[in-house]
Amino acid sequence: MWRGVHTRLGLKKGRTNVKHRALLVAAALVGATTLAVSLSVAAAGTAPAKQTSPAGTSATAPPKVPNAAAIKAKYHGQKITFVGDSVGGLHARDLALASRFKKDTGITVNVVPHPTASDASFAQLARNFSSKSSSFDVMMVDVVWPGAFAPYLVNLKPKLGKASKAHVAGIVQNDTIGGKLVAMPWFGDYGILYYRTDLLKKYGYSAPPKTWSQLFQMAAKIQAGERKSNDSFYGFVFQGNSYEGLTCDALEWIASAGGGHYIDNGKVTIKNKNAQKILDGFRTNLDKISPKNVTTFQEDQTQTAFTTGNAAFARNWPYMYANATKSDSKVAGKFNVTVLPHGAKGPSVGTVGGWQLAVSKYSKHKDAAIEFVRYATSAPVETWNATQWSLVPTRVAVAKNKAVVKTNPYLKPAIASVPRVTRPAKYLKGKYNSGSKVIYQGINEILRGTPAKNVLPSIESKLKRLLR
Ligand code: GLC
Repeated sequence: MWRGVHTRLGLKKGRTNVKHRALLVAAALVGATTLAVSLSVAAAGTAPAKQTSPAGTSATAPPKVPNAAAIKAKYHGQKITFVGDSVGGLHARDLALASRFKKDTGITVNVVPHPTASDASFAQLARNFSSKSSSFDVMMVDVVWPGAFAPYLVNLKPKLGKASKAHVAGIVQNDTIGGKLVAMPWFGDYGILYYRTDLLKKYGYSAPPKTWSQLFQMAAKIQAGERKSNDSFYGFVFQGNSYEGLTCDALEWIASAGGGHYIDNGKVTIKNKNAQKILDGFRTNLDKISPKNVTTFQEDQTQTAFTTGNAAFARNWPYMYANATKSDSKVAGKFNVTVLPHGAKGPSVGTVGGWQLAVSKYSKHKDAAIEFVRYATSAPVETWNATQWSLVPTRVAVAKNKAVVKTNPYLKPAIASVPRVTRPAKYLKGKYNSGSKVIYQGINEILRGTPAKNVLPSIESKLKRLLR
């Protein structure tokens, strides 16, 4: 059992108090956060989006804390630690929120950025919970974790249940385990394609690619052309490192090529011809369109390549939009976003990502921590998150707000209504991190040169073992 618990959270045996192990029940992860179902892809051309918008690190100050006086009267002087963001400059966002919260309520928020890879962040929290540590009070929780971490998280329903009703129902459902609201939706995510409008025009293209084959061709042509004057130029950058991000990217390739979602209806489906074909397509085209070390790229490396003007296409989450429009970006006014391409046998899709805020049940300041979560997930902060940092609102009304949509073109129906695909957390439950590791390690091996047919059988058998 001891070993089982640790394996379940993907932990190595360590200095751990094991009494709490029974808490780690295999809570079901709903996972399927389908925000929209229909596919309506409007023609996206080579005109850059009007980029009046998200300010990123030069963001305006965060909104004031609603009901601050009452919070101050009760919790003034308490100190909490928030395990927050580290990707794309979002640590600055967390510091700004913490500072405003302290000013208004007298509660100090110590912000600790989590590891940049989501799976490493999972491991950090898993160790923390396993040792029943009270050092973290509030933490960012990836959309694929509520099932695994539910036993360690405070039920937010009594205090935030009412507020949760304003958020997208599918995400609230994802964050509700065994009837308990173990995390509060904070911002959503889905994969989108960023493309250089100036370069498309220069190379004679009137629209971004609709299929992966078109992307391979266009990226190869633009890369070959731009290389003449820029050694560091690449056609396409994405999250190719052996980590959680690759599980997200490859899900988009495979699902959009009719190859399923790794696990479908409880059965492992990864070993199939459509998946093999698209994965080999990426493998064989890679050296013509991507840097060799794209197999080590996470979100930050993708962003650097794109915002320094060294990539024609990038797959990333919406947060990059703000950073690419900032004054220090070399591509401000020269890019646009659209849905990801699709394969021969499927539609364009976007992997569901996103983050929630949760409170540790080992926290010594749960009430103050909950007030911070209430503030950070409030409508004014979600609006600020969207307009200043280009983060996808989880509050339905904020996502529809005209000012928000204006600064975040990926919220327009043509992009936002692309079918969302979910990682297999609802099947793997507490073993999700281990299952995802099997997937991203295998796919990274394919990208590094091994034909898919030699790798898919072992991904299949390892996933089957985990499902048993
Ligand atoms: C983004 C997504 C998250 C995903 C991660 C992978 O942060 O929101 O769900 O796990 O990227 O890198």
